[in-house]
Amino acid sequence: MSEVLRSSLVKLQALIGLIGLVALTPLLVLAAILSRLIAKLCCRPKPKSIEGEVAVVTGAGHGLGRAISLELAKKGCHIAAVDINFPGAEGTVKQIQENYKVRAKAYKANVTNHRELAELNTRVVGDLGPVTVLVNNAGVMIHRNILSPDPAEVQLMIDVNLTSHFWTKMVFLPPMKALRRGFIVTISSLAGVFPLPYSTSYTASKAGTMAHMRALRMELDLEKQRDIHVTTVLPTFLRTNDEVTQMSNTIGIDELYPLISGEEVARRVVDGMLRGEHEITLPGLAAVLYRLVFLLPADWQVRMILLLSGKRFKEFTNFRSPEECGESGR
Ligand SMILES: NC(=O)c1ccc[n+]([C@@H]2O[C@H](COP(=O)([O-])OP(=O)(O)OC[C@H]3O[C@@H](n4cnc5c(N)ncnc54)[C@H](O)[C@@H]3O)[C@@H](O)[C@H]2O)c1
Repeated sequence: MSEVLRSSLVKLQALIGLIGLVALTPLLVLAAILSRLIAKLCCRPKPKSIEGEVAVVTGAGHGLGRAISLELAKKGCHIAAVDINFPGAEGTVKQIQENYKVRAKAYKANVTNHRELAELNTRVVGDLGPVTVLVNNAGVMIHRNILSPDPAEVQLMIDVNLTSHFWTKMVFLPPMKALRRGFIVTISSLAGVFPLPYSTSYTASKAGTMAHMRALRMELDLEKQRDIHVTTVLPTFLRTNDEVTQMSNTIGIDELYPLISGEEVARRVVDGMLRGEHEITLPGLAAVLYRLVFLLPADWQVRMILLLSGKRFKEFTNFRSPEECGESGR
């Protein structure tokens, strides 16, 4: 068969597939909405128990990581609080020990360093037991120079927010596969689906984590590892971080939607994780909104998002980080 004929046949096959998919889509959407409604009303999966399990929480020394560590401890899970900021991790452990009867220990590790994470696993297994809950929470958002960011800062954002998740997966997933159970929670951001202009490295890193977890979920399904649950979390801006709060004040993000507390997110995340939810958006309505926007052609998506908040993004260029203003960030 000639190359031209073969290529025409492949194109025809793709076109038939596309027409079939377009014809089926309304039915699929209806079936998905109905099954979601039924599950919500009467047969929501029961939360699994993690009593006596061991969780590694990265970036546990502050903000959302600390709140998630406390929430997991409340459910009876032992906690390895991991942070590059060791005193922060120790502070989290102190709060856990004051409130809950679980074992907790602070560990200093840089999530961008694969070797440190491998050593961390050995230490945690020795101290607390095998890790069956991994929370990829450590993240950075740096805006020292919005219009001309330093290449080292761009690299750091990609390394902490995206690359580190490959290292944690390589270290913590194989033992979960051997045990045939576990939970992986990845803190992405709504910025991964509603891009933030002038914060492109952050946006790209968060979109990357979401795609990474989607591919991982498929791998686990192909390997019939259905008791390893992967949950991606896409929160709006939170009240956990001074720089975000200051940024929100500058560009008025909270006029679009109020900033959410770390504790509120932690409760929703741990509940969703235990029920095996794949993606959690906060607020929940954003899940509908981003799917509707994705139905539009690419140029309309840009117009639509700019229409909603273009003025704010422009004001972003006037943002000065706490560090730049000479205040202590934290
Ligand atoms: N704050 C927000 O508005 C917001 C919104 C959406 C998503 N998120 C995401 O939620 C997560 C937590 O955010 P937060 O507001 O609690 O941040 P935070 O700055 O309060 O805490 C992050 C923690 O990560 C630690 N960390 C940073 N780099 C590290 C490294 N290389 N190795 C180990 N630990 C490291 C920090 O020391 C800190 O304790 C991040 O992934 C962030 O991107 C935050």
